[in-house]
Amino acid sequence: MSEVYRFEDIQKYYIAGKRGILDDLLKIPKVYVKALDGVSLSVPAGKVVAVVGESGSGKTTLGKIAVTLEKQTGGKVIFNGIEVGKNTYWDVRKHVDMVFQNPATSLNPKMKVKDIVQESIMNLPVEEKKSFEEEAKSRGISMEKLLVEKVKESISQVGLIYDEVKNKQARELSGGQVQRVAIARSIIKHPDVLVLDEPTSALDESIQAQVLNILVDLQEKLKLTYIFITHNILVARYISDYIIVLYAGKIVEYGPSEEVLTKPLHPYTQLLLSSVPTTESKDVKPPVGDVPSLINLPSGCRFHPRCPFVMEKCRSVDPELRTQGDYQVACWLYE
Ligand SMILES: Nc1ncnc2c1ncn2[C@@H]1O[C@H](COP(=O)(O)OP(=O)(O)OP(=O)(O)O)[C@@H](O)[C@H]1O
Ligand code: SF4
Ligand SMILES: [Mg+2]
Repeated sequence: MSEVYRFEDIQKYYIAGKRGILDDLLKIPKVYVKALDGVSLSVPAGKVVAVVGESGSGKTTLGKIAVTLEKQTGGKVIFNGIEVGKNTYWDVRKHVDMVFQNPATSLNPKMKVKDIVQESIMNLPVEEKKSFEEEAKSRGISMEKLLVEKVKESISQVGLIYDEVKNKQARELSGGQVQRVAIARSIIKHPDVLVLDEPTSALDESIQAQVLNILVDLQEKLKLTYIFITHNILVARYISDYIIVLYAGKIVEYGPSEEVLTKPLHPYTQLLLSSVPTTESKDVKPPVGDVPSLINLPSGCRFHPRCPFVMEKCRSVDPELRTQGDYQVACWLYE
């Protein structure tokens, strides 16, 4: 199976709190929030990989690094065989896009729908716009006409009617419509990968299902790869081929969705899933105990203070993510 992304030992450390010049002058040591701490994974092309974990586990940070909105502190990201760096950002950006949780804040509320969608192409650097210009030339039409066609096509692919919405401002649309516009804005560039960060969780339940179905259709039709961040285990079950469970900046379990959901190996995943699926509690629920501080992580296995199976070794030695076939788990129970 070909891989679209490979993340190798990714760390993302943010500086905690605000730092002033005085802190540097007085050489006050920096304190770091370890949002991601040694994440390695491979994302297969054309598949949906769901990322689950409780709040603060590093899901959005991983998504932002994938689309180059954040740069990792350490480790490598390989995209389609190319190492992502300053000189190769556009090799990623032209193929990848991100849809955020809250469409109302991710899009300019005063812009017209057609401009929002079209802007995605207009914002490409000159080099990257060339393929669209060449297409217009080869078809003997102007770039403006081609853009209108592309905008129309993308808007209809997300289930909206172009003539009804083209001149509306984003603020005049419902939440579900705005999220569809955000998706249209992403797919107009013909990406290979979409990072979807809780794309339905800000929407009403009835609308969530509609948007989810559109995403499922688009993934199949356009042969997209999704990195799908979600709190909702039922959504992960519905949409994903693989599930990654993140705990305090580390992957603790990664495998085919059905196996992770029906036979979870890691105690954290088992506890997350112990209350699902029911219609009342389908969100990723934190197991009892406190989420560890990312500034001062527990020694050994970072889940040990909350783990019902904790052993002596767990308190001092951090278990590595071990691979068994296409399954990975980081826990001393599976040594
Ligand atoms: N710019 C930043 N500066 C400092 N700390 C940050 C920054 N961005 C994220 N963090 C911290 O990194 C950790 C991981 O954040 P992230 O947003 O990736 O978590 P998440 O899993 O997406 O959480 P949620 O489910 O709440 O969206 C959190 O502790 C967060 O406070
Ligand atoms: S390594 Fe130990 S503490 Fe960590 S999850 Fe496994 S059994 Fe629990
Ligand atoms: Mg997040």
